[in-house]
Amino acid sequence: MRIISSTELDAAAALLLEGEVVAFPTETVYGLGAAIFDPEAIAKIYTAKNRPADNPLIAHVSDFCQVDQIASSLPREFFTLAEHLWPGPLTMLVTKTPNVPSIASAGLPTIGIRMPNHPLALELIAQVRQPLVAPSANLSGRPSATTLEHVCQDFEDRIAAVVDGDSCSVGLESTILDLTHPAKPQILRPGSITRDEIEKLLGRSVEIYHPHQEETPRSPGMKYRHYAPNASISLYRTTEELMEQWETAPHTTLILASANAKLPVPHICLHEQNLYAELRAADKNGYLRILVLCDEHILGNVALLNRLVKASSTMCDTF
Ligand code: TXA
Ligand code: MG
Repeated sequence: MRIISSTELDAAAALLLEGEVVAFPTETVYGLGAAIFDPEAIAKIYTAKNRPADNPLIAHVSDFCQVDQIASSLPREFFTLAEHLWPGPLTMLVTKTPNVPSIASAGLPTIGIRMPNHPLALELIAQVRQPLVAPSANLSGRPSATTLEHVCQDFEDRIAAVVDGDSCSVGLESTILDLTHPAKPQILRPGSITRDEIEKLLGRSVEIYHPHQEETPRSPGMKYRHYAPNASISLYRTTEELMEQWETAPHTTLILASANAKLPVPHICLHEQNLYAELRAADKNGYLRILVLCDEHILGNVALLNRLVKASSTMCDTF
């Protein structure tokens, strides 16, 4: 895999236009990009990631003309939110146009669109002159990639190139908002843009969608295990419960807790920006178990808690 520097973006754009897959940084996590109007290139993303064929991809745009290339009948809510929150970590689901290859949306009539807040991503998309579909740049089911090194760990010989950027400033994937029923917007995946912010801008309440309400989840990705390292992850509400577990195998156990936690043993301070790096480091350092103390700071961070619950074997209802 070629590593392309920020001054050689034209080389990355050329590879994308030749039908290759190129990873690139965004403010949330690295993405695994392909040109949206090239179904064969998109197929390579699914193969490289081992991604199930029914899990659709997000389209990344650098301007509003590109939105018009792929979406139709955009609701007023789309423009209100885009005006205030783009470029940024908000993906909006809208009705796609028929010219978008069905492999991009895994056969669904909708498409998720976002304008990333990262200069290299925006410049790369602009140079390719069409939206780039990009899932997170990790092997399916594994922790997402927030540094160039993470992308190299997962994709060394599996994709053509990666654009070298700094580590991602947000560190968790975008908020996904379903606007296909604009009178009833729903958050399908929490992110750093909160329900509160969206509700204030729209002037109405927004639901958080829970997949167990229906048998087939609205967002196909919800039914798969996500973000998980090889080490097992368990979540605890109290220091006592966590310490009891830690004592059974201290040398192979890593503890993650918020910066405010007071624990009698060494632990790592967990926040949005370092979650995926710490999960990956735990595997590299041979830990078999990760215990997370979910105090009020972590419980209050809806996006971080969502990723922890999905990466662990903990039932959603418990947390
Ligand atoms: O921050 C992000 O969103 C990152 C960066 C690279 O932009 N991308 C990302 O993509 O997290 P991915 O593929 O790892 O997660 C996208 C999620 C999946 O769970 C997928 O099922 C859901 O979005 N999704 C995408 N298009 C959809 C659609 N049309 N309908 C329902 N769910 C959709
Ligand atoms: Mg992902």
